[in-house]
Amino acid sequence: MANFSPITPGVVTFESVGLRYDKSSEVLKDINFSLRAGSFHFLTGKSGAGKSSLLSMIYLAQRPTRGQVSVFGNNVGLTKRQDLPFIRRRIGVVFQDFRLINHLSAFDNVALPLRVNGTSEAVIKNHVTELLRWVELEDYMKYKPQSLSGGQQQRLAIARAVINRPELLVADEPTGNVDNAIAQKLMRLFVQLNKQGTTVVIATHSERLISEFNYPRLHLVDGKLRIIPASSSNSEENANV
Ligand SMILES: Nc1ncnc2c1ncn2[C@@H]1O[C@H](COP(=O)(O)OP(=O)(O)O)[C@@H](O)[C@H]1O
Ligand SMILES: [Mg+2]
Repeated sequence: MANFSPITPGVVTFESVGLRYDKSSEVLKDINFSLRAGSFHFLTGKSGAGKSSLLSMIYLAQRPTRGQVSVFGNNVGLTKRQDLPFIRRRIGVVFQDFRLINHLSAFDNVALPLRVNGTSEAVIKNHVTELLRWVELEDYMKYKPQSLSGGQQQRLAIARAVINRPELLVADEPTGNVDNAIAQKLMRLFVQLNKQGTTVVIATHSERLISEFNYPRLHLVDGKLRIIPASSSNSEENANV
């Protein structure tokens, strides 16, 4: 991939990033951070703070109005449009509104990323079934997303995002529709993926998850980003943001 940015040590780097919609004032202002490979961060801030907007720049759904975003060493502003899908494929995304494919079954929604990369059907059957069991959807594999509850759709969206073991996982309030026991379980899935090397960013409102899982926070207030290190004794390792 061309356009390697020499000042980019992280998997994701934002430099002086600003974002505005239409003629409104900037939703995000002067955002600077870098996510080290294998790091885990929460993204916090009240509703409307810009969490989803920031994540959408990470998964290349929109470009900053100013400044520079780099993902896997690619300066997004300089990357050719036709190259973006190759970067995008390395990122698992859990959308706040799920964006499941309604005409496909639960099984086929999760299988899709594997089919795109040419995995054999035998392997797909094993992996998808195992993951759907983990997210407690094994009895719903043939159901279409619309016939599932909000919490079930959310778990399905998470399964689809992680099935490929992406290098980077971006999840937008992925536990907003499930009870605390399931939220804990889903967090363990993210932690496990992270231990295998995936860089993780999770936008959340849940003070409970934030306090129970001691990871550094990217915190948005008034369009600006504050970085709050993890509070554990090994926070130095985590705080490399
Ligand atoms: N597509 C859009 N067009 C115009 N304004 C938007 C759009 N998306 C978000 N916004 C505005 O940007 C601000 C941040 O929104 P968002 O990123 O969704 O915040 P959060 O995810 O933290 O709730 C809000 O004021 C919201 O109304
Ligand atoms: Mg949001």
